[in-house]
Amino acid sequence: MEEKQMKINITETVLRDANQSLIATRMPMSDFEPILETMDKAGYYALECWGGATFDSCLRYLHEDPWERLRKIRKVVKNTKLQMLLRGQNLLGYKHYPDDIVRAFVRKSVENGIDIIRIFDALNDLRNIEVAVDEAIKAGAHVQGTLCYTTSPIHTPENFVNLARQLEKMGCHSICIKDMAGIMSPKEAYDLVKAVKEAVKLPIVVHTHCTTGLGPMTYLKAIEAGATTIDCAIACMSGGTSQPPTESMNYTLKQIGYDAGLNEDVLKEINDFFRPIRNKALETGLLNPVVMGTDPDSLTYQVPGGMLSNLIAQLKAQNALDRLQEVLEETPRVRADLGYPPLVTPSSQMVGVQAANNVLSGQRYKNITKEIKAYLRGEYGRAPGELNAELVKKVLGDEKPLECRFADTLEPGFEKAKKEIGDLARSDEDVLSYVAFPQIAEKFFKEREEREHNTVSYQIRKVD
Ligand code: CO
Repeated sequence: MEEKQMKINITETVLRDANQSLIATRMPMSDFEPILETMDKAGYYALECWGGATFDSCLRYLHEDPWERLRKIRKVVKNTKLQMLLRGQNLLGYKHYPDDIVRAFVRKSVENGIDIIRIFDALNDLRNIEVAVDEAIKAGAHVQGTLCYTTSPIHTPENFVNLARQLEKMGCHSICIKDMAGIMSPKEAYDLVKAVKEAVKLPIVVHTHCTTGLGPMTYLKAIEAGATTIDCAIACMSGGTSQPPTESMNYTLKQIGYDAGLNEDVLKEINDFFRPIRNKALETGLLNPVVMGTDPDSLTYQVPGGMLSNLIAQLKAQNALDRLQEVLEETPRVRADLGYPPLVTPSSQMVGVQAANNVLSGQRYKNITKEIKAYLRGEYGRAPGELNAELVKKVLGDEKPLECRFADTLEPGFEKAKKEIGDLARSDEDVLSYVAFPQIAEKFFKEREEREHNTVSYQIRKVD
């Protein structure tokens, strides 16, 4: 028997994934700022606090500078590693950017405080993460290469093991098996972690959601098979489309002889802190109780947390929430037509919106979104499986899909963007915000100027 308990790392997701999956990433910095110092004392392996949809949400809804948010977190969280989620060549947006932008973005993320960058491509087309991985290694970050987990006739364990081998070859420091829809069963997790562990030497991280209720069991089996790190959310922001609860996983692991190393008193403080925030979100309707339940149907529809809350919002806005079931049933059909992309941003949005179009317009592919057209042209990368030939013909005609990376067709973009936005940008970080979300960032910069101008004139009046 081993003398020393085996250490399991727990990463806390309340600031990013739990926030994104339950309340559409609408938690402002001012809500969680007071608890950061305490969170730093919990013993977490890392705080997932940036990237994913946080960047978009800061600029679009919260009137916050996402870079400023990161710097503020870094200033307070001195001991715990800060982790971000990056969509490879998509960065934090919804389209592919040229390589110079990707490199600048990765460099600036690390400069502003990120330690661990989890990098994925929605299609597992690893050509789309090569540049980000390379730059993150150069910048000295811990680079977590990612396998987007999904089930389909073409997503076999061998397929994932091959991808894992490629990630190791690229120089990644760990491998994340990312189950964004919470559909990976305990047995599948066990088998997959075992297979990957046999093939590569890197530590294995498992990420899942409670959507289907499998999450905590999946983590246990993954750990049994040799995974060393799991992602959890503090209890009041856990469950449903969010992660398994930090406290319960810590408790269970301790009992069966693992050392998750978390301080239970500190965890309680953190949970007590977030509970009123969660309750307020329930009251205002920002948090829909539907996403907090268990939905085994996702085992069929594979709809990830963020996507389900988006779909509900989208249908609600069109007064068609009663058609959710039909849209959920259409989702796997659209996915099959597209060669079984894993459902994760941006493919989840693409498939979801198209499925909604197909249902609401009363005819499949009557309205085809421009994202789906771009996908069929190969602008997001190589589809994992065969595309529906009829659909391809309908959209592309005689045009041939791309063979190379879409980014290979793009001109460098940083200097051009810098000129375009001019004095409104005060830093290279601002330029990158502008590149990621041009109109929204520009609006944000203008409002910032106005705010400051008002403050200045107010101060002058006061002096007068
Ligand atoms: Co997730």
